[in-house]
Amino acid sequence: MNKEQEEILKLKEEKNAVILAHNYQTAPIQEIADFLGDSLELCITASQIEDADLVVFCGVDFMAETAAILNPKKKILIPDPQAECPMAHMLPAEEVKNYKNKYPQAQVVLYVNTLAESKAEADILCTSANAVQVVESLDADQILFGPDMNLASYVQKRTDKEIIPIPEEGYCYVHKMFNIGDVTFSRENYPDAEVLVHPECDAEVQEIADHILSTGGMMRHVAGSDRKNFLIGTEVDMVTRLRRENPDKIIYPLLDEAICENMKLHNLQKVKESLQEEKFQVTVPPEIAVKARIAVERMLEVI
Ligand code: 13P
Ligand code: SF4
Repeated sequence: MNKEQEEILKLKEEKNAVILAHNYQTAPIQEIADFLGDSLELCITASQIEDADLVVFCGVDFMAETAAILNPKKKILIPDPQAECPMAHMLPAEEVKNYKNKYPQAQVVLYVNTLAESKAEADILCTSANAVQVVESLDADQILFGPDMNLASYVQKRTDKEIIPIPEEGYCYVHKMFNIGDVTFSRENYPDAEVLVHPECDAEVQEIADHILSTGGMMRHVAGSDRKNFLIGTEVDMVTRLRRENPDKIIYPLLDEAICENMKLHNLQKVKESLQEEKFQVTVPPEIAVKARIAVERMLEVI
């Protein structure tokens, strides 16, 4: 631990705070987090926080908002309020309403990567770890699913229900960077490696991978596998966590440039200031939070 990390740990104790961090955070933040995980694991953890007075969320806006939706009485802080997920902003609530009017028979499944106002329009939420299970749990045959078109197509291949992507072409700019050439080139260089990709990658990349997994799924897969070498097709700091926790394995990124700049807005200095000054508080208007919470809790019942 460096001096700044030690100061943060001391402050954390003084303020009775917990630090939650997504797997895409840098190593210095991963090291000071009380809990590190994928979107679903972070949702579950956020829903179980009882004793802490403050929660510092090192992730993008929709993740901190979800924690605020689940804990309306707790102070949820985000070290840099500019840390937004561009994909979440591709599906405004108005657009969800328009689609609902166009397809009145359909049920609405929204990826947790959405704005709170849009979540309030959903029947249920999902993450990349449980999207198929969530869709299968519904009694409708037609599903409005957004905003990630690649996750939508991943689900479509695994269900008989009709999946209608909303918007038609929502995407994550980080996972869009991967192409078939990255997989074939890397396989030539590392023929023994297993290729794991995230379902936000394009369909043709998913098709030639060995496994398609959420970031939490990647953690479990690598830890439980007899294989030694892995190529990871998601944000580069996933490799940081996999290497830290699996020192006996050889883990390479599929693409060094796959960096989520939005996640990287957080750093130790900002985490320290967030704790010291109790900023920046994430709040969701109560009328939106109440509706969004129903959709989040419904997902947590299905898992
Ligand atoms: P996970 O839920 O798999 O961690 O993914 C979150 C995310 O933002 C992927 O880009
Ligand atoms: Fe959003 Fe993509 Fe960053 Fe995930 S990696 S937070 S989906 S921009």
